[in-house]
Amino acid sequence: MKLIAPSILSADFLKLGDEITTIGNSGADLLHIDIMDGHFVPNITIGPFIVESIKKVSTIPLDVHLMIENPDKYIKDFVDAGADWITIHSEACTHIDRTLSYIKSFNIKAGISFNPATNFNGIEYYFDKLDFVLLMSVNPGFGGQKFIPSTLNKISQLKNLFKENGLEIPIEIDGGIKIDNIKEISSAGADIFVSGTGIFKTENYKETITEMRRLIEE
Ligand code: DX5
Ligand code: ZN
Repeated sequence: MKLIAPSILSADFLKLGDEITTIGNSGADLLHIDIMDGHFVPNITIGPFIVESIKKVSTIPLDVHLMIENPDKYIKDFVDAGADWITIHSEACTHIDRTLSYIKSFNIKAGISFNPATNFNGIEYYFDKLDFVLLMSVNPGFGGQKFIPSTLNKISQLKNLFKENGLEIPIEIDGGIKIDNIKEISSAGADIFVSGTGIFKTENYKETITEMRRLIEE
């Protein structure tokens, strides 16, 4: 399963409805939504209220990436707003097992994210709660940053860890993914590709996504 998840962080927010409709018609699989609180990351984006509006126009599932402290406090709000997938950050969550169980109690997909300099310490204790894992390939907070090359080894490392345990948990990669590096990232073992500027700053979203898909399925 290889999925493409455009990040609306780089969309034109003055015409967000049109942008989402265009993306839905361009062959994207998931709509990636970056939630930032100004504490866990040095930037502030949107909250559940806007996600609820996005849900009304999106034809594809919402992949909500919570870059916030105290995620437990807001998970229900995002579920009610229409999140289909929710990612919490390992660095921002004290009781990971409890929080993942809480997300799954709403019958949606639960994932955990690791920043570029965070290791997978303890992940084996909550393997059974994971629908996917999100590896950050930039330090979170902003779109348009450069892909950190050491992520490629990290993908293989995680893939091997899953293999050793007989698991096939999809690996999502987020940050700096573009047409020119997506093939290499896919070959390293990634399954889900988030791309903000790599899609929204191109002329024709459909052409870009079609080309990305060709490269990852080759
Ligand atoms: C970064 C966000 C990313 C961001 C990716 O903190 O989590 O999802 O939107 O943007 P690009 O693809 O431009 O690096
Ligand atoms: Zn993200």
